[in-house]
Amino acid sequence: DDILARTRSELEKGLVPVNIFANADIFDAEMERIFAKSWVFLGFESEIPEKGDFMQRRIGRDSVIVTRDGKGEIHVLANFCRHRGTKLCQTDVGNQSHFRCPYHGWVFKNNGEWIGAPDKSKAYRGLDTRDWNLFKAPHVESFLGMIFASLDADAPTLMDYLGGAAWFMRGLMDLHPGGMSPMGPPDRYKVRGDWKTGSENFGGDGYHVGVAHGSVQTIQLAQGFDVLNNYSTHYVIPGGHSFLGHDFDSMFGPDGHVWYYPPDIQRHFDLNRIDPLLQDVVKKNPPIVGTIFPNLSFLRFFGPPSPGKPPAVYTSWRQWQPSGPGEMELWSWQLKWNFMDEQQAADSYAAGQFGFSSAGIFEQDDTVVWEGAPEAARSVWARKEKASFNMQMGMEGMGQQVLDTSWEGPGEAWRPGPGEPSQRAFYRHWLRQMEETGE
Ligand code: FES
Ligand code: FE
Repeated sequence: DDILARTRSELEKGLVPVNIFANADIFDAEMERIFAKSWVFLGFESEIPEKGDFMQRRIGRDSVIVTRDGKGEIHVLANFCRHRGTKLCQTDVGNQSHFRCPYHGWVFKNNGEWIGAPDKSKAYRGLDTRDWNLFKAPHVESFLGMIFASLDADAPTLMDYLGGAAWFMRGLMDLHPGGMSPMGPPDRYKVRGDWKTGSENFGGDGYHVGVAHGSVQTIQLAQGFDVLNNYSTHYVIPGGHSFLGHDFDSMFGPDGHVWYYPPDIQRHFDLNRIDPLLQDVVKKNPPIVGTIFPNLSFLRFFGPPSPGKPPAVYTSWRQWQPSGPGEMELWSWQLKWNFMDEQQAADSYAAGQFGFSSAGIFEQDDTVVWEGAPEAARSVWARKEKASFNMQMGMEGMGQQVLDTSWEGPGEAWRPGPGEPSQRAFYRHWLRQMEETGE
């Protein structure tokens, strides 16, 4: 709680104490006060389309089974046997009406109900089986085919939780009635970084692009990143969410409309599905990255150039899965528009893997520099000096960024870059959640 008190006073100055990036107590509190309280993303409905389909996913550090029962309803179940805690489901995906525990053989239906055990009539005649169902998330909802769950019985609805972020998500995913779906299971890899670093970076760090990803420009695989700062808009949305809009007109001229999608993709979009202000954002300042609190981020970018063709545009939803203090797994789904033909989907997939994947040219830049924060947090010297990280960019008196008072969309729009309003808002929300002990 000392650390939280210090975080509160530091944040007023736009600073964040290094201690919050590799501290076991902070990590445990995050699991309880953030991951067990928020709406956490689990995957896409299209990953479990049939009755009986299931997938193993995570809420914070907890393994959960996301199932579709015999009636087609989706459940989110704690993945441990109520008898002695053995992990019930040990595969990533499959189709089962029941889960049988590998230890003593208790059996649960895919809606979580205790249904049987070996020698049931001799061993458990008096057992009130209703007490021994699997734990089940009290709230499960979907939006645009994306499944979220909350372990908090008193949670607001998913739409209330997303608030203004839902508006932006429509602009990303709802440009065609067929929607989007992932091209396979998520890529997963370990990163020696803190989950918060992924969230705040993808929420609005345009500043690192010219340096951390500078080599991509040097070898001329992509260019023009310097404009990311000067022509960006930080959309800061209550609830810890944010998106980084990018002025495509200034970078590419007016033909760059709609995320620089090539014409054979763009012609499918029906912008009238979304409201006029959002249409305007999508054409002029569309988000290229964004974060839904706590640990879900979005990315839409393009490239590399391929001979004779405009570069393909790719979309990734990615999740920063906390594994321990200063350690995470990065899960990344690459999505296609369902109207795409095989070649279009393959082009988009290849471009995405090239940029953001375990071997991706951008991803490797990011995941390496993110190792620093937990390292610094473990440093005796940093602790002795009571070191804090700097998130002051663009604050009053620091830079040119101002709140756009003419903005009529959700939340706030800060422009032009460079600035770090999203990062400060992310950590302010993080702190609010951490200070709500619920006791
Ligand atoms: Fe699952 Fe015993 S631990 S049946
Ligand atoms: Fe990056």
